Parts: sequence; C-alpha cells; structure tokens
Amino acid sequence: MKTPQKRKQFHGKKKNRSTSQSQQPVADKRCVSSGKGPQDTSWEQQASLYDARHGESGDDIHRRVVIPSVIRQLSLKPGQHILDCCCGQGVFARALSAQGVQVTGLDMSPSLIALAEERAGADERFICGDARELKSLCGKNAFDHAAVVLALQDLDPLAPVLSGLAEVLKARGRLVMVLTHPCFRVPRHSDWFRDETGVRYRQVDTYLRPFNLAIRTHPSQKEQSVTSHHFHRPISSYINELGRAGFGLVASEELTLPNRGSTGKQTEEDERSASEIPVFMVLTAKKL
Ligand SMILES: C[S@@+](CC[C@H](N)C(=O)[O-])C[C@H]1O[C@@H](n2cnc3c(N)ncnc32)[C@H](O)[C@@H]1O
Repeated sequence: MKTPQKRKQFHGKKKNRSTSQSQQPVADKRCVSSGKGPQDTSWEQQASLYDARHGESGDDIHRRVVIPSVIRQLSLKPGQHILDCCCGQGVFARALSAQGVQVTGLDMSPSLIALAEERAGADERFICGDARELKSLCGKNAFDHAAVVLALQDLDPLAPVLSGLAEVLKARGRLVMVLTHPCFRVPRHSDWFRDETGVRYRQVDTYLRPFNLAIRTHPSQKEQSVTSHHFHRPISSYINELGRAGFGLVASEELTLPNRGSTGKQTEEDERSASEIPVFMVLTAKKL
C-alpha cells in the first residue's frame, strides 16, 4: 500500500485587506424593526469599509461571477418585481434594474440603505429593515422573485427569513440564494495547502456542526475592532429549511474564481485547483 504523502501548509500570499476608509456615511434613523427580533446582524458598523470595497458596481467577483449567475437563475421577464434581500449598498439591485425589472432592496444597515438610495435609478426603491421580519415590511405576494446574495450566513435564525420570503413571493416565484460555499469555505476550519509534489488542495476539518463565529474586521485592533458574524451551517440545513418554508429546490450552481491567466508551474497548479474547488454555492428554489 502507498504511504500517504506528508502534506505541509501552503504559504500563499495573504490577500492585502485594505483598511482605507471612505467618508463615513451618515446613518439615518429609518431602520424599521420591531426591536423584538434577535441580535443586530447588520453591517452598519462597517458600512463605509464595505462601500469602499464594493461601491457602485461590486468587486471583480461580484461582476464576473456572482451577478451573472444570479441573473441566469432568476429567469427574469421585463416588468417583474424582484426583492433583493440584504441588498447592502444596492450593487445587485442596480444590476437587476439594468435588466428591465423593478427592484426593491432591503437591508438592516441604515447607512448602506442611504448609499443605495443616493445611487438609485427610477426602478429601484429601498427599505431599511430586518430580513427576519419580511412579511410585515413588504406584505404578502409582493414580488415575482427574490435573491439573497452573500448574506444568509451573516444572520440567524434562518427559518423566519425563509418563511418570510415564502410569504412575500407570488406562487411559483423563484428564490436565488448565494452562499460562500458551505463545504469548502468554513471560516477558521478550511484552508489551501500544498503537498510535497506541488499539488494544491483544500483541507476542511469541520463541516456538519453548525456554529457562530465573530470575525474581526481589523484583526490587528483586537477587542477594539468591529466584528461581523458568520453562521456556519451544512448544506442540508439550507435544503431542509427551504422545504419547511414551502420551497422546492430546482437548480444549483457552484462557482469558482475567474481564471487569472497566470503562467508558470506553480501558478498553473493554482489555477487548476481554483477551477476544481468552488468558492460559492447558488441554490435556486421555487415557492410551491
Ligand atoms: C456581505 S453583505 C452582502 C450585501 C449585498 N447582498 C452584496 O452582495 O453586496 C451582507 C449584508 O447583509 C445585511 N444584513 C445582515 N443581517 C441582516 C438582517 N437581519 N436583515 C437585513 N439585512 C441584514 C448586512 O447589513 C449587509 O449589508
């Protein structure tokens, strides 16, 4: 029998996470919440940092990978009304309205909603509120389809969000959810490594156990740093919760990072592994 090769940690360059701040957006006081809900999971405290990174039209990954996939999955028809749930500063809402549909964006951060409104076109409107209280904020059967882009892992519990989405969607309405891939991107429990033959691989040491992690936006600032929450759940949690809320799963895409066209033996292996291991998971469900 072959002895498994000893694998050692991959010392790839860590991404330089810029901490440059744009002007602090002014928070308004219109965030509608009953106040009875669970914790504030909004990105209000890091609104300016998030806007500096994503701004008007999102980063390269939004533009090249995430947005095209969500638009494919929504199967839009002109004039439809779409909910962008947890819309941030409205990057996806703007991409949607460019497709000839009406969009309502909802987010719990007043500053991100204010930034979305500043840039809004005629077919975009925004509501500041908690995604766990959708029915009281939007009303029954208000939308043809809905999307939640890279946000369900920021909030908990999941059940009121999905049952609220089922209430506000019309019959047969589509719900498209984008997650950081729950199998391969488990914060603090997954990373890239390289073995002695040069093969780059992803190691995951925890997956089935749901957990909540507070992530420091500026690790060097220690306790002073703003934190966001990551709620890890296995894929079965999403599928089972969709079923309980009255949705049936109809499609899925697993998205990889775009090829950077790098050359050289090591970078070719980096491109190969990056094209094999997806970083995002898209789940498309229909209201039954
Ligand atoms: C990673 S950002 C994604 C924003 C946007 N969908 C995008 O792709 O750019 C997560 C967003 O979820 C919002 N959020 C978190 N918890 C929320 C809640 N309970 N209700 C509404 N929005 C929430 C945050 O304020 C933040 O704007």
